[in-house]
Amino acid sequence: MKRTKVKDLLSNGEIHKDYMIEGWVRTHRGNKNVHFIALNDGSIIHNIQIVADANVFEEELLKKITTGSCIQAIGTLVPSQGQGQKVEIQAKQIKIHGTCDPETYPLQKKGHSLEFLRTIAHLRPRTNTFGAIFRIRHHMAFAIHHYFNSKGFVYLHTPIITGSDCEGAGQMFRVTTLDLYNLPKTKDGKIDFSEDFFGKETSLTVSGQLEGELGALALSEIYTFGPTFRAENSNTPRHLAEFWMIEPEMAFYDINDNMDLAEDFIKFLVKYALEHCTDDLNFLNEMYDKELINRLNFVLEHPFERLTYTEAINILLEAKENFEFPVFWGCDLQSEHERYLVEKYFKRPVILTDYPKEIKAFYMKQNDDGKTVRAMDVLFPKIGEIIGGSQREDDYDKLNNRIKELQIPEKDVWWYLETRKFGTAPHSGFGLGFERLILFITGMANIRDVIPFPRTPKNAEF
Ligand code: 4AD
Ligand code: MG
Repeated sequence: MKRTKVKDLLSNGEIHKDYMIEGWVRTHRGNKNVHFIALNDGSIIHNIQIVADANVFEEELLKKITTGSCIQAIGTLVPSQGQGQKVEIQAKQIKIHGTCDPETYPLQKKGHSLEFLRTIAHLRPRTNTFGAIFRIRHHMAFAIHHYFNSKGFVYLHTPIITGSDCEGAGQMFRVTTLDLYNLPKTKDGKIDFSEDFFGKETSLTVSGQLEGELGALALSEIYTFGPTFRAENSNTPRHLAEFWMIEPEMAFYDINDNMDLAEDFIKFLVKYALEHCTDDLNFLNEMYDKELINRLNFVLEHPFERLTYTEAINILLEAKENFEFPVFWGCDLQSEHERYLVEKYFKRPVILTDYPKEIKAFYMKQNDDGKTVRAMDVLFPKIGEIIGGSQREDDYDKLNNRIKELQIPEKDVWWYLETRKFGTAPHSGFGLGFERLILFITGMANIRDVIPFPRTPKNAEF
């Protein structure tokens, strides 16, 4: 007999028919006559109840069915006599795949703290909470590919190992095969990277954008979706050292087209989650954040507020708030500033544009004022920045001047500059932090709880 997933059994199971199910035991209680086993296989948040007649099954076998053990059961689907479930499996056969020692299994009690569960990331997918989060994460990844595919975007795979620093923030993890205890040196005493694997200095990418632009300037519309790495020592609930980013890049889009796409994209994803992850969202709404589903619907129903950085600074300067970081034209906005604009002032998502060029990357299109660039950041309630993007500088001379001003080595970006020499085109793009999206969709408060195995400063366990 073939296995039926609990999800399919609960939605399409036929009464009085026999099924085989497999999964992990959540609870087991019983008396002299009858035993009740709640089984979960991760296909859905709900368990299936297995009813085992104590006169049919050996006591020795029933004893081994403890919380966390893995079993296979064959039995008949019947309407449930008890409360809490419509149907249950009346067991005919039970086989134990793996026992689970109740003395040492860490997931015995209900209601472990999220902090504790982080220390057992190898087992936390077996909880209702993490089952729900990782299923939602899956659905969102699928929806992202669906969205871009249906719009004719090409999924472009950009490299993970790179020789260039896209964001220019110097937060890269080095990739090398050199012997760190015996480094080859040049005549003037520097490390001789010509002896390294790639014959040059390389790192893990902070963004696929620069290569993404090469794709857009040939295929018109591309997107990337892959892991990115930042060695920033930020111990916050919103930063990871390894995170996933979605980066669409479009030829012939100006910054307004870029904003329209970003807003449409996020709203599509929120709607998709509400439609396809109903059970898991209801669970998270009930257990963690009673405002979650309201907040998701609110974002769908309201246009994002669009204003310039300069207008935002004026609002912040007039705000009667005790900000920790001072506000002045030219300052990099902190999460407290972003959240004031989103949560208190506009009470909806906000898109800020036209930031000072000093606080943004070299590739952004320069405005005529000589001071600002055509950047756009999308700011979200509880998250702050969820998307960063811009129209790109497509003028060869302006881009080249900026690269020189910032002393970016030409050997690192010559190929990028050439696209502005050979058939340049207006183009734009943005990056959506996948885990920040999942934070928003699930209502979780810490980014470590929306990725299976988080990498943060001083932590690369599992
Ligand atoms: O604003 P960022 O640095 O922009 C870029 O990397 C551009 N190259 C994107 C583009 O235009 N193609 O990062 C984009 C987004 C942020 O808005 C945030 O959501 C997320 O990536 N992000 C992080 N998420 C988790 N941990 C970190 N350390 C993150 N840094 C950025
Ligand atoms: Mg940014």
